[in-house]
Amino acid sequence: MIRWMCKVSVMGAAALLLLAAAGCGGGGGKSEEASAPLTPITAADRAEAAQLFASRCAACHGTTGMGDGPGALALTPKPRNYRDREWQKKVKDEEIERAIVYGGTSVGKSAQMIANPDLQAKPGVVAALREIIREFGAQ
Ligand code: HEC
Repeated sequence: MIRWMCKVSVMGAAALLLLAAAGCGGGGGKSEEASAPLTPITAADRAEAAQLFASRCAACHGTTGMGDGPGALALTPKPRNYRDREWQKKVKDEEIERAIVYGGTSVGKSAQMIANPDLQAKPGVVAALREIIREFGAQ
């Protein structure tokens, strides 16, 4: 009995340590579930993605990802709020990237989310756009 309790408290301490480590990670190096093969993202990719988001996506998705851009006013359904943490937990990276390149219908969503076929040749930029969408969820 005593040995059992001891084991549990050791595990408890380990879990706490893990939590503390995760909590103290401090900006930047967020560890998503290590499922998807990681596409390398360069600084140039990130710069291009930021520009793209502002020029092509923010009109509907809003500059802060809340789905409240002027272009979304007339849309049904509206783009979702990317700050929704429940959605962020559920959605897979691949699904986000697929929607961006192949459009909403490719993931069972609205056709108003048009495809961006020019990005097919730029996986790094697509990954950086996905990163932008993930960051909205961290705010
Ligand atoms: C004309 C408005 C419009 C533009 C421009 C637009 N989107 Fe969307 N987007 C939508 C709508 C509407 C949906 C789907 C909502 C639904 O069906 O639930 C959507 C869905 C998505 C999804 C699927 C995930 C989800 O469930 O919300 C992603 C990812 C996404 N958009 C990213 C982007 C990115 C990145 C850009 C710029 C390259 C962009 N969108 C440009 C309107 C737009």
